[in-house]
Amino acid sequence: MISVVLIGYGNVAAHLLRAFSKSDAVTVKQVFNRTKISTKTFENVDFTNAIHDLVEADCYIICVSDDAIPLVADQLRFKNRLVVHTSGAVSMEKLSAKNRKGVFYPLQSFSKDKPVDFKTIPICIEAVADADIQLLHRLGKSISEEVYEIASDSREKLHVAAVFVNNFVNYLYSLGKEILEAHNLPFALLKPLINETAHKLTFLEPYEAQTGPAKRNDQKTIQKHLELLNNPEHKEIYKLLTQAIQNQHRNT
Ligand SMILES: NC(=O)c1ccc[n+]([C@@H]2O[C@H](COP(=O)([O-])OP(=O)(O)OC[C@H]3O[C@@H](n4cnc5c(N)ncnc54)[C@H](OP(=O)(O)O)[C@@H]3O)[C@@H](O)[C@H]2O)c1
Repeated sequence: MISVVLIGYGNVAAHLLRAFSKSDAVTVKQVFNRTKISTKTFENVDFTNAIHDLVEADCYIICVSDDAIPLVADQLRFKNRLVVHTSGAVSMEKLSAKNRKGVFYPLQSFSKDKPVDFKTIPICIEAVADADIQLLHRLGKSISEEVYEIASDSREKLHVAAVFVNNFVNYLYSLGKEILEAHNLPFALLKPLINETAHKLTFLEPYEAQTGPAKRNDQKTIQKHLELLNNPEHKEIYKLLTQAIQNQHRNT
């Protein structure tokens, strides 16, 4: 049985707690958060607001905002224990040298109240010592079928790619919603298109799946769309993405 303490209780920690609680191989001994949290759902877990009262465990998972990771790691009073963070963007080296460092990065977008199927979520692990890598591997395998050992420099690049396919695409969804709602049309009209765009990637490369006026170079449609857009920021984004798609498909 691997014992774990979760440090921080935001989106990621809440999902990890839920997933570990279903595993026979892991016990979450304690959850720390600097501010008060609801303890209703997990009555067997000890919740604390005192960083200096953490119990002994095989692994401490720091699930706080990226910028706070070094600060929180420095505040830990113990030494030589395995302390990992869950960030895609922060180097393992940012953790304090007084403990054994590692990373346990679940590559998914987590919102506290939206359930996820952890089994399919890639977990990117990193540590210095072989024994720690093995422990993180077992920890990952207790909740997911996809566990990968990925070093900090590769993980940071993976995270940049993830920002493109998740955060940027999601922002574009919000622009689509804004444009529709300004014309009293429901966002629900776009949902089958959104789902199909993602689903297509099971069968096609993103390059092959591209359609639309930019790829076809339908200049009249592109000009009309630009005239229909009132918001200057929307116009700039439309022009930039149209140009980028055209550059990519110039010779096809
Ligand atoms: N959300 C995702 O989709 C996702 C996916 C993969 C990895 N990650 C990574 O997981 C980590 C946590 O992300 P999240 O989305 O779960 O964050 P979140 O929901 O915004 O929660 C942030 C947590 O950090 C704590 N915190 C912030 N500053 C702190 C400080 N100075 N000292 C102590 N605690 C502090 C907050 O405590 P309070 O409640 O007291 O404010 C809260 O528990 C980040 O490193 C992120 O990059 C996130």
